[in-house]
Amino acid sequence: MNALVRPVRRFEGRLRAPGDKSVSHRALLLGAIATGVTEVHGLLEGEDVLATLRAVQALGAEAARKGPGHYLVQGVGLDGLTEAADVIDCGNSGTTARLLLGILAGQPFPTFVTGDESLRRRPMARVVEPLGRMGARLIGRKGGACLPLGVVGARSLQPIRHVSTVASAQVKSAVLLASLWASGPVSVTEPALSRDHTERMLRAFGAEVLTEGTTQTLVPGRPLQGRLCRVPGDVSSAAFFLVAGALAPEGSVTVEGVGVNPTRTGVIDVLRAMDARVDLRPDADDGEPMAEVTVRPSPLRGTTVGGPLVPRTIDEIPVLALAAACAEGPTEVRDAAELRVKESDRIHALAMELGKMGVTVEERPDGFRVPGRPAGGRPVFRGARVASWGDHRLAMALIVAGLLADGPTVVEDVDCIATSYPDFVPTCRNLGGQTCLEVVA
Ligand code: S3P
Repeated sequence: MNALVRPVRRFEGRLRAPGDKSVSHRALLLGAIATGVTEVHGLLEGEDVLATLRAVQALGAEAARKGPGHYLVQGVGLDGLTEAADVIDCGNSGTTARLLLGILAGQPFPTFVTGDESLRRRPMARVVEPLGRMGARLIGRKGGACLPLGVVGARSLQPIRHVSTVASAQVKSAVLLASLWASGPVSVTEPALSRDHTERMLRAFGAEVLTEGTTQTLVPGRPLQGRLCRVPGDVSSAAFFLVAGALAPEGSVTVEGVGVNPTRTGVIDVLRAMDARVDLRPDADDGEPMAEVTVRPSPLRGTTVGGPLVPRTIDEIPVLALAAACAEGPTEVRDAAELRVKESDRIHALAMELGKMGVTVEERPDGFRVPGRPAGGRPVFRGARVASWGDHRLAMALIVAGLLADGPTVVEDVDCIATSYPDFVPTCRNLGGQTCLEVVA
């Protein structure tokens, strides 16, 4: 399906952010291996999270839908998962694949894990290597670097100290989850702090996790106890509307229930550094802080995104590239080579697709540079026919660019949006007007 996007002058309204994808995956995975029942409210019912749901069900944990976003997971305990009858397909979801591999490292039976064409291209050695050192056996394509992978784990894994060369929550989480079956403390050090949802949730379920700088140590031995999980709204999904609200000529956008865990809020910091008018009203904090976030149209200036800010902003960089294009002065993104191994090579894909819309994105090995708004008040984005590369975040960013363009835009292949934000299209219409966006075959 393709999206036909028409420009809007006004972008206005309130919305509730959909459930956080990262927290949703973790609630299902920890719920499955805990003792007792885990009740989840606000679970994101996107394709990626549904892949995790099917995975835990295939491994013998019962998880039932009670209503929209409301699930009951019957935990089987650390010794209760059972052999799956078939290959586990993680679809497009890197989080499903990598976190599941961590859990499978502790299971003394074989499991086969695969994914779609994009996921089968993505690097798995970063989790296969430490899990192998802990004593799990993993075989797969390219020497175990790519899915499909076969895993045979063990109930007693070696304690290791893992120093990761990438700031990746998926790597950190895979090792921490495997440590639940280790015979002693396991530590993971990363070059900068990535999202800490796993550490928070493990502690809430009763595990002992110590934090020192960017090192996390799990001390195994305590049982995990099922609990109530309220999933905060996803700041990565809210980001599309926050940027649209800042860039549209008129209106204002308020997003309720946004998760504002400091390891995730780089997008708010970057928008503020660009002079965007962003206001936060703190909301509930049930282990994950939440806020209501309002943004108003603002003239922006260019900025630099690099260093420890990158893992806190990583999934929002595609939509922030639009803010960079509209800002006065150049914006540079560095230290973000990880963008090349996401659902698509996001550096190259942004350069290609925004290029078709008249925006220069100079590629760098670890990021890009955008020169900024052209002089003379011309519209920044030219209406064009652009491709999503099968990448949900690119598809949504290009739709937002289309809303701000000088004429109609077609974004090809937008089905992928369902992986993280199934209600994106109707929400967009509510804010920009019913005619601003149509999905056509
Ligand atoms: C995620 C971690 C990040 C992020 C992804 C979700 C998670 O990936 O890009 O969308 O839920 O742990 P990396 O760990 O590869 O950086």
